[in-house]
Amino acid sequence: MNIQVTSKNLKTDFEIQFIIKKDTKNPFIKEYKKLIELSNFKYSEGETLLLLEAKKIFVSVNDISDLENFKIAASNAIKTLKKIKIKSAKISSYDKKDLKVAKAIAEGILLGAYQFDKYKSKKTLSTLETVYFQTANYYGEKIKQEDLKQAVEDTKIVCDVVNLTRDMVNSHPDELYPETFAKLASKEAKEYGIECKVLKGNDLEEEKMGSLLSVARASVHTPRVIHLSYKPKNAKKRVVLVGKGLTYDSGGLSLKPADFMTTMKSDKSGGAAVLGAILGASKMGVDVEIHAIIGAVENMIGGNAYKPDDVLVARNGKTIEVKNTDAEGRLVLADCLSYGCDLKPDYIIDVATLTGACVVALGEYSSGIMGFNEKLKEAMAKSAQNSGELTGMLPFNRYLKDLLKSNVADISNIGSSRYGGAITAGLFLSEFVEEKYHSKWLHLDIAGPAYVEKDWGYNPFGGSGAGVRMLIDFIANIK
Ligand code: BES
Ligand code: ZN
Ligand code: ZN
Repeated sequence: MNIQVTSKNLKTDFEIQFIIKKDTKNPFIKEYKKLIELSNFKYSEGETLLLLEAKKIFVSVNDISDLENFKIAASNAIKTLKKIKIKSAKISSYDKKDLKVAKAIAEGILLGAYQFDKYKSKKTLSTLETVYFQTANYYGEKIKQEDLKQAVEDTKIVCDVVNLTRDMVNSHPDELYPETFAKLASKEAKEYGIECKVLKGNDLEEEKMGSLLSVARASVHTPRVIHLSYKPKNAKKRVVLVGKGLTYDSGGLSLKPADFMTTMKSDKSGGAAVLGAILGASKMGVDVEIHAIIGAVENMIGGNAYKPDDVLVARNGKTIEVKNTDAEGRLVLADCLSYGCDLKPDYIIDVATLTGACVVALGEYSSGIMGFNEKLKEAMAKSAQNSGELTGMLPFNRYLKDLLKSNVADISNIGSSRYGGAITAGLFLSEFVEEKYHSKWLHLDIAGPAYVEKDWGYNPFGGSGAGVRMLIDFIANIK
């Protein structure tokens, strides 16, 4: 899907028209009022009405203070238009001054139009090629062409990397495994002009990543740690992103039941999200140094699989009693976080589909934010809100921390109670973040929103790209 800004009143195959706050007096809507009422239009938030003969699709937005409404409305309209035989459509913004509205509309179009049909023999190809974004707005006033162009360009950068992240999450595990994950990251890094270093085999032994290597051991696909970096001159701060890139999580010997194993190709979502975020933020030219560390590993079973009762030695020297091989993400992140701390970050943020417990706590639309620094947690929640992601904070406490005590090693990889599982997982990770970086660290559990099993908002079935937009917003707002 292509969006082009135009100052002309082009003739296109179709037009998308917002109906704002049920106002049908607007000159562009007035003449259709009777048809709109005849069709029993309810003016509910995001409702669409396709008038084929008039070559118009109307879409309702009532609460204009919430930009998400514009995104969802634009997405609803585009999804309907993709089903009919047209090549072009046009749309106008509602607000002349506030470019945030134009950005929201563009985002709704670009994210809502996403489709993953790579594995279908019969593609449901849409004929819709271009949406023209007119500088003339809802009231016939004009937005400055340059401003609108810039707004659409900025939005495109973000949506491109969200859609790239979605593609990666949707790729099946026999296509996207650690080696191919690294190849893809290197290719994208080259295209975006950033550095990419891949650690494998001996490199990982030399790094003493014993925890990560144990998880990876039973897979025919050997692990990779992917280190991407963007180093602009005169960077204000240094951010290290760490992503869980489990290209498949079978659970290992603590095998997942069949119904829970499906969708576990999405366990690489955190890794894909940090890749998307560093690419997007670098393209925006932020003056922040960014590193993305991805632990790309497959958790499988086999004669040499790591076992419950094993004691692992992590990169930072701490010993871990394995009580459940399905709590593998934290074992991979443990070594990646320790590696990330060596980069002397001003902020270190990990992103992971870490626990089912987080989904139980917050529902499947929200990511969990955890950490020791309340202000930092607030800042991330604000970035999520700015960019249209949902989050909830999960608080650490000393009693939950005690649940990780082990009789045989420094720490156990699961808590001794099944309650508070998202938080004990976060507290486990904190043991691998050097103490001096505790106040600079955040943990984002994206297990809920990373993979969509029933469409919501502008997220179609499959990978959502959760985390990408909030990370980019967070990085772009670093002072
Ligand atoms: N990848 C899963 C978490 C997950 C569950 C992500 C559902 C997305 C949807 C993780 O590795 C895992 O299996 N966690 C266990 C931890 C438990 C063994 C303490 C879980 O959540 O059940
Ligand atoms: Zn697991
Ligand atoms: Zn997992």
